[in-house]
Amino acid sequence: MAPHDAVLGWNEDTTAEAYAAFTRDFPMYSATSRDLAQRARLTDSRLVLDLCGGAGTTAAAILELAPLQARVISLDNAAAMQRAGKRTMTDPRLTWITAPAEDLAAHVPSPADAVVCNSAIWKTDVPAVFAAVHQVLRSGGRFVFNIGGGFAGVSHPDETGRTGPSLNTLIRQIAARDYGYTPPRPGADTPPKLPLEAVTKHLSAAGMTVLETEIVAQHSTMAEKKAWLTIPVFARPDGGDFTHEQRMDILNKAYALTTPDTATTTSWLVVVAQRPREGR
Ligand SMILES: C[S@@+](CC[C@H](N)C(=O)[O-])C[C@H]1O[C@@H](n2cnc3c(N)ncnc32)[C@H](O)[C@@H]1O
Repeated sequence: MAPHDAVLGWNEDTTAEAYAAFTRDFPMYSATSRDLAQRARLTDSRLVLDLCGGAGTTAAAILELAPLQARVISLDNAAAMQRAGKRTMTDPRLTWITAPAEDLAAHVPSPADAVVCNSAIWKTDVPAVFAAVHQVLRSGGRFVFNIGGGFAGVSHPDETGRTGPSLNTLIRQIAARDYGYTPPRPGADTPPKLPLEAVTKHLSAAGMTVLETEIVAQHSTMAEKKAWLTIPVFARPDGGDFTHEQRMDILNKAYALTTPDTATTTSWLVVVAQRPREGR
């Protein structure tokens, strides 16, 4: 049986188009991409890799900071995401490669001055990707990425000041009320997927060192959160046998109980790693 529309992945045009539209209308991915690109110190770069680059939002941030003669390669395994990006991104410095992040070293020339990965690393086979990044980076080159707070098991202090239930809580309540949805047991005993200790261990195993880590807060609104939840891969509830249409019905009802400009905060763990300089 074909998967129903709500579980379609990144290589679906519906997700790719919705994602690309979201990145144009709201700052979340461009702001996080800009932060990572700045930390990668691209002033003298000649080759920069945008890992899991999707529709190119991170590549756009890199292109803004990299010198005119630099080349940028955006690698992602979802052709649909890249198709959506190619329609608007025409910078001749940018090349798109459709391939898994784990196979990075087989697809890009090296050495690269920096590798940047926004909002994706925990979706990959992390030890394999770190080994591939080490292989392509020049000595002293930076590898900069972030991990969603829930996946890293961190939250910024700004996140605790929230008033009222989150949109996700309201979604679960309405799904239960209108569709008989049974929420999974609260995940207090579920360990985070990629905490800093695991990141540090995997980086070290791959021959890289951590230069800097920071928990950053991204301030947003209910309206942005709602728009993000309309992207098929992110629509909730993620369990249960819902169609995308049903998820959108639940989302609209949940959103009606909130105030659009209510402030929301998303936490990220940002990691700046490096392939050590030779001779150290
Ligand atoms: C949330 S999007 C981020 C895209 C882009 N970095 C941005 O900030 O807009 C996550 C991307 O990771 C890609 N992805 C996930 N796992 C991957 C893997 N193992 N190899 C390559 N790409 C992957 C998906 O196809 C998707 O385009």
